[in-house]
Amino acid sequence: MSGSAQAARGVATAVVGMQWGDEGKGKLVDLLAAEHDVVVRYNGGANAGHSVVIAGQRFALHLIPAGILSKGKLAIIANGVVLDPDTLLKELETLHARGVDTSGLVISTNAHVVMPYHKDEDAAREDTLKSGAGEGPLTEIGTTRRGIGPAYADKVQRSAAVRARDLLHPELLRARITQACRFKAPVLGKAPDVGAMVDIATRWGTRLAPMIRETTYLIHDQLRAGKRVMFEGANGTLLDVDHGTFPYVTGSSTGTAGIATGAGVPPTCITSAIGVMKAYSTRVGSGPMPTELSGDVAHRIRERGREYGTTTGRPRRVGWLDLVALRYAAMINGVTSLAVMLLDVLAGFETLRVCTAYRLADGSTTDRFIADGQELATATPVLVDLPGFREEIGTARRLADLPAPARGYLDFVQERVGVQIGFVSIGPDREQTIMVGA
Ligand code: IMP
Repeated sequence: MSGSAQAARGVATAVVGMQWGDEGKGKLVDLLAAEHDVVVRYNGGANAGHSVVIAGQRFALHLIPAGILSKGKLAIIANGVVLDPDTLLKELETLHARGVDTSGLVISTNAHVVMPYHKDEDAAREDTLKSGAGEGPLTEIGTTRRGIGPAYADKVQRSAAVRARDLLHPELLRARITQACRFKAPVLGKAPDVGAMVDIATRWGTRLAPMIRETTYLIHDQLRAGKRVMFEGANGTLLDVDHGTFPYVTGSSTGTAGIATGAGVPPTCITSAIGVMKAYSTRVGSGPMPTELSGDVAHRIRERGREYGTTTGRPRRVGWLDLVALRYAAMINGVTSLAVMLLDVLAGFETLRVCTAYRLADGSTTDRFIADGQELATATPVLVDLPGFREEIGTARRLADLPAPARGYLDFVQERVGVQIGFVSIGPDREQTIMVGA
């Protein structure tokens, strides 16, 4: 019996970012949580920042699935996540202080642990690149310095990796950490203090032990029992380690493909894939962004959209909507419906511009995305002007409530990306969402 046949009774919804992260996935996951029993994080780590506003209260979550904010859900951190226990424990404390029940949180035994030396290594590599020691056209990646890349690298290296399950076995833990510290010495200039690392990890183990469990069968059991499972993607498609603007990407498979490796659920099980996109583009960190804006327009979008990183507080780079990139993201993720977020931010512009193709260095044009950091940097956008809308739209509850140019903008997006729009978000609150066709 195939995986899909075994799981045929359940619903498996994927929610993935179609741009460079920060698309508003947190809000969508929170909205959809009501219709799901289980929410699973399958990739990334504390680099992600999902903000959700409920009854005027803003929650910023980096590691815990945003679905935890809905009562009674199973919230799973699956094997594909790199787990930063410090951040996780802080998040748990914040949630408890606000009265959120976190008893449904489960951590995969096979999730890899971000150790303090991973963060040091992340910073050391970035500093080296920044200081110019990285020769040639390479600049720093602009990582969140949360140790994501080094933790994933150790996972693939195998010889010095620490997994959540190891936190429960003191002898094995000590052996792994001792090994790891030896390997880290040349990179960091000196070996991390083994005793201190073991102490920290042992304390994490004690606190996290009740949450650490096998999760692959757990998720499949839920699907077989007819439960509705949502997979909450972190970061965004254009930051995918394989399909993004390498090397200016993160360390994981951010799209629907990441669900197979990061949670053990095969592609044939996915029943729908919601592609989350902002009504414009943003990017944090280095790397090409063909539609990038500067000056007054950028400032206006950044301020209205509160475009400052949830994780690092860095101002985000902003740009017009890039339909080439979105069509690509829809294609590689198998997106079945679009969620257009932050449309309200675009109110007040006379004209809205969208990119429909790239002009290349040789003067030709293409409507195909270029999944390479250096090559994409040579492309310039071919922009189409669309009429803007002056009115604030935060009180709209149906598509018909939107001004005609806003609807025209959405129609253009839908037609060019080739996928139906299912949701339009016009403000941070749950109520400020138009469910198309509902
Ligand atoms: P890392 O994931 O910390 O290694 O960072 C790699 C790149 O991905 C940097 O440009 C980060 O700014 C970016 N990045 C990682 N996670 C997110 C996210 O959740 N939103 C936006 N950018 C992200």
